[in-house]
Amino acid sequence: MVLKRGFTEFLSFTLSCAMFFSMLTSVKLPVLADDTEIINLVNNGDMESGTDWWYAQRADEKCSIESVSDEKHGGEYSLKVTGRSAGWNGAAQNLVDSFAQKPVAGREYYAAAWVMFKGEDAPDEVEFKLTLKTTNNNKDFEYDNIATKVVNKGEWTLLEGIKRIPGNALVDKDVHIYVETAESKNFVDYYLDDVVFIPLGDEEINYEFDPELTPLRSIWDEYFPLGIAVRPDQVESEIYSEYIKHHYSGLVAENCMKPEAIQPTEGNFTFEDADKVANFAKDNNLTLRMHTLLWHSQIPDWFFEDPDDPTKPATRELLLERLKTHIDTIMEHFHSIGVQIDTYDVVNEVISDGEGLRDSKWKQIVGDADEDGYEDDYILAAFRYAFQKANDLGDNNVKFCINDYSIESNAQKLETMYKLVERILEVAKEEDISKDRIVVGFQMHINMYGPSIGQIRKSLEKFDGMGVKVQVTELDVSIYKSGDEPAKAPTDEILLQQAKTYKDLFDVFKDLAEKGLLDSVTLWGGDDRSSWLNDFPITNRGDYPLLFDKNLKAKPAYIALTNPDELPVYRQTINAAKGTPDLGEKVDQLWYTISFTDIDQTVFNDVITPAGVKLMWDEDNLYILSQINDTTLNDNDCLEIFLDTDLDNSGEFKHFYSYQIQ
Ligand code: XIL
Repeated sequence: MVLKRGFTEFLSFTLSCAMFFSMLTSVKLPVLADDTEIINLVNNGDMESGTDWWYAQRADEKCSIESVSDEKHGGEYSLKVTGRSAGWNGAAQNLVDSFAQKPVAGREYYAAAWVMFKGEDAPDEVEFKLTLKTTNNNKDFEYDNIATKVVNKGEWTLLEGIKRIPGNALVDKDVHIYVETAESKNFVDYYLDDVVFIPLGDEEINYEFDPELTPLRSIWDEYFPLGIAVRPDQVESEIYSEYIKHHYSGLVAENCMKPEAIQPTEGNFTFEDADKVANFAKDNNLTLRMHTLLWHSQIPDWFFEDPDDPTKPATRELLLERLKTHIDTIMEHFHSIGVQIDTYDVVNEVISDGEGLRDSKWKQIVGDADEDGYEDDYILAAFRYAFQKANDLGDNNVKFCINDYSIESNAQKLETMYKLVERILEVAKEEDISKDRIVVGFQMHINMYGPSIGQIRKSLEKFDGMGVKVQVTELDVSIYKSGDEPAKAPTDEILLQQAKTYKDLFDVFKDLAEKGLLDSVTLWGGDDRSSWLNDFPITNRGDYPLLFDKNLKAKPAYIALTNPDELPVYRQTINAAKGTPDLGEKVDQLWYTISFTDIDQTVFNDVITPAGVKLMWDEDNLYILSQINDTTLNDNDCLEIFLDTDLDNSGEFKHFYSYQIQ
């Protein structure tokens, strides 16, 4: 067996990594015995079958590959790469056609390749790289370095590393592995042999779904249907489908009802995956959100192209006609198979993060068709088509949603949304659709540091009194403050803080549902393994934003929504700056150098009072500046401060003073 030598090294490599991983994520690495057959996704990885399955990356740049026997790492043959004219030229293989196993998005692999170069003209050493190339949902190529190593002339050298295929990779399309060099001139010929790409043990998905757990729906159904976003394979999986039925009362398809999935080429409607989700919802009495009729992303290019010349844009008339056909066909389809859609996401993410509407092809091509000074014609058209079709079909309960992100945090965006909803309501009136069938969808991709609960409540309440409903459509609570934060492990403390965020959020949701404003809440995924945030906004960073972990084990966030009293007390910490502020009538300028720490708290009757505090200290005093935003003045209003003077880190308050400030 030619791979034997590399294989032994693989063993020691995995073992030395094992400790590192168990600390971080408790990944179980495979225990491989000598007789274990390894699963290698590389076809003809030992190069004993000539050049089969391999190709020259950029043959158009004169690079070529051949099977040779003058040099080899093992067996009789190796692959020789010649004619390279750029660093990225090299031998490559697309693993999507692997005999051994299909590549899996989000799964970790051990990858290795042996390389060698020689020749009088060649430099003494060259830096080699092993690279993984995939395409993501936006059809962009993504290049991931697996290993980089300086190779000495004439020495067979192992390039190896562990890599996760990005969770959003289109694994039916591109999962290429290839060897390149880092030089900028003298692109050496090289030999390649014994290439492996082996799945790591972690992904033996080990679901620990516990049917004894309190169903989330037993708590929340009283207020609103709680749903999750799913993939078709999840509703088909025995365990996962049980898990869904146990906890949730609503569903949305994460990707398979998007334009690119439903109408990949013009007139070719593909409902197979969509129907798996739709029928599962129907058979199990779950409410179903349809996501989404119009979007700028995950939509095929043909929508916007002139059919006779794809380099030219489609006309306004043609684009609107295509939009109408798309909407009509989908609505007719679900009606005809007897699936009741609760809410259609008619348009998704049409508002800009700055001013006005998003600059998309929809907006560019349709523009201000009726010349009323607004460029929202494609949005209003989408709603009108959907209203008319629902009326035609007699679907008198279906709701229509305008869905967007960051409206809970970006006041300008929220304002644009408000104005747009007013205009949608005019169309609704014309088409005889009642206001309460219009929904403002808050995607609510937030993180555990913000926005504050108070701000979220205020943003949702913006639509109170307008007659419309609001829905939380894609909730997840990232553990990262921003895209800049490096990967981190989900410590108990982090998960507890996240649980507190979930608890506070759901208190608000409950309140707004009781007031008749909030209509449903949907989480963007059922477990941390499936979350899109593992790869967004940073590929491969990993995130832990949902209620259940990778193996469906309940997280503290789940407990916060079922039995919150069981959770340990969440302790928030604030840093005190050193300084001596003036305690006059006016707030000392010194305070301005510190920012408020939010201490949003639920007080009497679930009323949430947004408050912030700042602290300073000097040798004699601790100074506290607080700001409480409460609209009603009450006799009971006070700020209570407890000071524990016996700090032994036990976490218990032993001696404390309590101060009340009226
Ligand atoms: C995301 C999916 O979760 C990913 O699997 C996919 O790669 C990209 O789209 N806002 C939306 C959703 O409206 O459709 C997006 O879903 C997440 C952001």
